[in-house]
Amino acid sequence: MTKIAIVEGDGIGREVIPVAHRILELLHPEYEYFKVDVGYGRWERTGCPCTDPDIAQLKTADAILFGAVTTPPVKDYPSMVLRIRKALDLYANLRPIRGDGFDIMIVRENTEGLYSGIEELTHDRATTLRIVSRKGTERIIKKAIDLARQRNGLLTIGHKANVIKSDVFFRDICLTEAKAAGVLCNDKFIDALSLDLLQHPQNYSVVVTTNMFGDILSDVAAYLVGGLGLVPSANIGDRYALFEPVHGSAPDIAGKNIANPIAAVRSVSMLLDYLGDSRGAGCIEASVCQVLKKGICTRDMGGSVGTREFGDALLHSLRQPY
Ligand code: NAD
Ligand code: IPM
Ligand code: MN
Repeated sequence: MTKIAIVEGDGIGREVIPVAHRILELLHPEYEYFKVDVGYGRWERTGCPCTDPDIAQLKTADAILFGAVTTPPVKDYPSMVLRIRKALDLYANLRPIRGDGFDIMIVRENTEGLYSGIEELTHDRATTLRIVSRKGTERIIKKAIDLARQRNGLLTIGHKANVIKSDVFFRDICLTEAKAAGVLCNDKFIDALSLDLLQHPQNYSVVVTTNMFGDILSDVAAYLVGGLGLVPSANIGDRYALFEPVHGSAPDIAGKNIANPIAAVRSVSMLLDYLGDSRGAGCIEASVCQVLKKGICTRDMGGSVGTREFGDALLHSLRQPY
């Protein structure tokens, strides 16, 4: 039996994940679903945002559907989504940006770089160790090469090798592996790449980069498709996988039934692709397009439909025979 863990998390995670969950249940009533409560809300209630048994429970799932968690930017509260990514060794973060005339996959290294967690804070100095390991680089470039091959597309390496020596290391391993694999490849400085991606998105197919550059680039690239409410992601490792919107818990709009659930719903589409149901994944994408074509959309896209009501429209569309 396929087991799916559902983590709503905090803020709008608690609004968009119920919509995504309803859609997944409609397509796969035979899956077993179980909820895991993780995040800031849990910490406020119990003093603990996520326990070791929670992590163990997440590991029993074939796939995890995750909303978003709030992380207060203070010294002594670690991000729970980072903890889960590391605990499950979800090293490849795939963030697709698809629109009229372009189809880009951002492949973000997801376990090291500036997110190593090796930090030191003293009164006079704060240090964060940026780790780029051979193992970490080789496994992410392999993933990017596979994707470039599947799409028969260009592979672009984003880095800052002109300044950061750990990125000379990253770039060189990536270039060597891409050359050996016979994949068409180029490389760009991440700052110039960020603007060029917005100006000429049609020139990109797969973009591979280190952890924090990938984090920033994916929010920037969301501009091409209408904002954060639309971009899903997959966090993939060799044993586990977690699917979540690129956006966060959006406290500014939480609890108002105005969040766009498309990113969460598209994350379900990526989850189904991962589990081998490409038909179900395609049906979700088609119904999102169909509903948007009817002019039904949430406030961030210029409409006035609520989160739940948008979910109702998607469910209605999915129930129609194709
Ligand atoms: P955010 O992505 O939550 O929001 C940024 C802006 O985009 C906000 O104005 C928000 O209203 C808007 N937005 C985001 N998703 C939307 C949607 N579905 N529909 C409509 N508008 C949407 O980023 P933030 O405000 O920088 O962070 C808020 C909290 O979320 C922080 O605590 C941060 O650490 C956390 N966060 C968590 C994750 C995660 O759990 N994966 C990801 C990003 C941020
Ligand atoms: C994301 C988020 C996370 C990240 C934060 C909340 C830890 O911004 O998933 O893009 O930086 O990876
Ligand atoms: Mn981010």
